[in-house]
Amino acid sequence: MKVEIRERGKKERRHAYVVFAAKDDSNVLSGLPEDAQAALMGAVPASFGSDGTSFTTPLPSDSPALRLYAFGTGKSLTITPRKARTLLRSVAKLLEKNGETTVLLDLPFSLERMNPAEGREFLLRHLFLSNYSFTRYKTGEAKEKKTELTSVRLSALRGLWTGVSEKDAEREVRDAEIVAAASALVRDLGNTPSNDLLPRHFAGHAAAEVKKRARKNLTVTVLDKQAIEKEKMGGLLAVNRGATEEPRFVVIQYMGGRKGQKPVALVGKGVTFDSGGISIKPAEKMGEMKWDMMGAATVLGIVLAASDLGLPVNLVGLTPLTENMPSGSAYKPGDIVTFRSGKTAEIDNTDAEGRVILADALDYAKTFNPEVVLDYATLTGAAVVALGFEAGALFSESDELAAGIVSAGERTDDRIWRLPLWDEYKENIKSDWADVKNTGGRWGGAINGAMFLKEFAPEGALWAHLDIAPTANYDREYAGYATGATGYGIALTLRWLRDRLALAGSSKN
Ligand code: BES
Ligand code: MN
Ligand code: ZN
Repeated sequence: MKVEIRERGKKERRHAYVVFAAKDDSNVLSGLPEDAQAALMGAVPASFGSDGTSFTTPLPSDSPALRLYAFGTGKSLTITPRKARTLLRSVAKLLEKNGETTVLLDLPFSLERMNPAEGREFLLRHLFLSNYSFTRYKTGEAKEKKTELTSVRLSALRGLWTGVSEKDAEREVRDAEIVAAASALVRDLGNTPSNDLLPRHFAGHAAAEVKKRARKNLTVTVLDKQAIEKEKMGGLLAVNRGATEEPRFVVIQYMGGRKGQKPVALVGKGVTFDSGGISIKPAEKMGEMKWDMMGAATVLGIVLAASDLGLPVNLVGLTPLTENMPSGSAYKPGDIVTFRSGKTAEIDNTDAEGRVILADALDYAKTFNPEVVLDYATLTGAAVVALGFEAGALFSESDELAAGIVSAGERTDDRIWRLPLWDEYKENIKSDWADVKNTGGRWGGAINGAMFLKEFAPEGALWAHLDIAPTANYDREYAGYATGATGYGIALTLRWLRDRLALAGSSKN
């Protein structure tokens, strides 16, 4: 989808003029000739502007489009981000169903919790994603989407674009397109079934994305099993033992910041399929565990997007990748694993495998002397039990880091909610036999997972753990997201990185 602010080339009438109206909104048709405005406003139904209503009509020949689509938003044009995303997706679907490919779009909204620039970013990003679908495995008729929205021009007459220069608006469009493209890539990786997204495939995609960009400051290294053995990553190797497929460990580096500036390390859980291993999961919904690599995909997406945006930051992405499978060689409950750091853990449940591979990755992050370490993992069902589908779970001992991440999440609608990491919880992961145990009993499951990771977070760096199990994927179309992977965490992290840059810039003055 191409999005532009100004009409380029010869002015052809667009297929559709899409407007959103609040109840009693008199400016809604300001993009039309005055006599058309008057005629149409006389013809609108009584419900015009009411929440959830729509109204379609042909437009007179001197109008910029053939047909008008008007959608009601109810009381006000200030709406929640979720409502905006849902509206954009349903509009894109309706337009495509009706065969409309070129659109003039009025986006008059203000968004709750966001300032104008953040609101524009959000609307543009979700406009680009509004017609996302994953049809790679459909054949025949189902594969051929009948029409696709190809060209959208923002009327930019009202709402958040008021007073924004064309040049700035166009730069914002390009930036949003970059983030949307990263999100679409990450969604595609997540939605790809695990038979086609083995650890070596994931590593191959990461390498290809880096190679395609051919930038000096963007590099990737893939550790194979031998290299992982050399690093003594006992956790990753233990989880991998049940799988026929070898593990990988991808290191992707973007050095866009000052030379010598400590990097931010991003660590992502890359379990390409989580059967549970010997502690096998029930059959029902096990297929959803193809999404258990969304942490790793998110990390890849963030680093690529930061590079595409040219953010002046140093980033290291670290993604341990393996399947978690049961077999005669699989790791077993009661086993004791020795990690890269030298610490040991008793395996109480082989289905708590994410923390076991992340332990080595967090420890490996030390070698980059990072200032901050963030990890992303679909770590626990307990996080989903706690928060439903509305927010990820955040853990950090740093109030400042936690506050910054929560705020970035609010302003991108990648919402996240903090849970505690108190020492008292350490009791739960005590082992009779090893330094720690990889489960902590029935209660506080998301916290127990985070407590385990805390044991391996590099000292001297700020650390936060993002349990993205609640929001990384939805098993049905939900809140304006297509079925499947969402790309949650990318916009949040890019926002957090930009906030950090702005803070560093202002403290220098
Ligand atoms: N990948 C799962 C967590 C998960 C569950 C993500 C449901 C999304 C939806 C993780 O590896 C896991 O199995 N965790 C266990 C931990 C338990 C055995 C301590 C869980 O949450 O049940
Ligand atoms: Mn598991
Ligand atoms: Zn898992």
